[in-house]
Amino acid sequence: MTDRKHNIFGVIPTDKVGWRSPSNIALVKYWGKKSGQIPANASLSLSLKESVSETIITFSPAKEKDFKIDFYLDNEIQEQFSKKIKTYLESILHSMPFIAQLDFKIESKNTFPHSAGIASSASGMSAIALCLCDIERKYFDKDSSDEKFFQRASYFARLGSGSAARSIYGGISLWGEVEGIRSSSNKFAINIDKDSDDIYKSFHDSILIVDSSEKKVSSSLGHSLMTNNTYATNRFLQANENIKTILKILKTGDLKSFINIVESEALTLHSMMMTSNPYFILMKPNTISIIEKIWEFRKETDVPVCFTLDAGPNVHILYPDPFEQKVKSFIESELLKFTYNNVVIHDNVGNGPEKIV
Ligand code: DP6
Repeated sequence: MTDRKHNIFGVIPTDKVGWRSPSNIALVKYWGKKSGQIPANASLSLSLKESVSETIITFSPAKEKDFKIDFYLDNEIQEQFSKKIKTYLESILHSMPFIAQLDFKIESKNTFPHSAGIASSASGMSAIALCLCDIERKYFDKDSSDEKFFQRASYFARLGSGSAARSIYGGISLWGEVEGIRSSSNKFAINIDKDSDDIYKSFHDSILIVDSSEKKVSSSLGHSLMTNNTYATNRFLQANENIKTILKILKTGDLKSFINIVESEALTLHSMMMTSNPYFILMKPNTISIIEKIWEFRKETDVPVCFTLDAGPNVHILYPDPFEQKVKSFIESELLKFTYNNVVIHDNVGNGPEKIV
């Protein structure tokens, strides 16, 4: 029986761990939460391959009574982030008491450009959670199975950022309790690849950068505004229905129905923003122009390509591998003009986190 509170080595020595962890794009969106980072509805996402955070945590016995965090992004110390991560670590101290014994130097890098406007909280927080669970496994819980390890990492990633819970796995992840899905939970995500057609693991996600500026409304604020949104209750019911439907669609490889649900989810997410109080719009005119072009292209060619959006103006274009050339030339010829500085990030579904140190 493991005892995570008692270190077999007495004092944890100076050491380091490192993980590479991906960003993910939600197909059914998480927007609205209850206290303790419990989602108002289940969500489902594809983990990406190229858009990742690489995080190395060097730790040593704490020099003072209060443990210390220095967080570096691209080799530059980030005071604000250091404080945020300190608060996060304090919030999980009761589950990981060893944290209080250590000082931490956290060095993180994102492979996607800073200007890309891609949220790094999913990849960044999942990488940190994996590192923490790795320290725990090494010094307290050596016999923990991989399954338990990743489940615990997803649990702690969620406490840092909800969508990060889903980045712990490659392929397709489901976060949130769903009737009939054994082991689905509001507290951690699970991988559902084995219940999905292989076509989805071949999916590409070409991210068209429409605007690279900082988010105008943080996800935390956006989530909290759902509390008083008149449409929230129905939205949560709809999302849970969409989860059940998409789980069936994923099994069969019915791309037409897949596209219908994915695009509807993206537009519903943004309609929740427009119907919040205060209301806000994160799409830009070029976001709409790209969407219209995708609809035209799909109608003319029958290529199973669709879009989704996260909490911002950039457009994620999703398509299965056999259509790569057709969609990429369509992007080049028809869509680049709507992007900021011609920035497109071509990514695809990846295999999930990897230990790097
Ligand atoms: C629109 O996970 O960033 O991308 O839990 O407050 O950190 P916090 O929110 P976050 O919200 C993600 C919102 C979304 C949809 C999604 O990824 O499901």
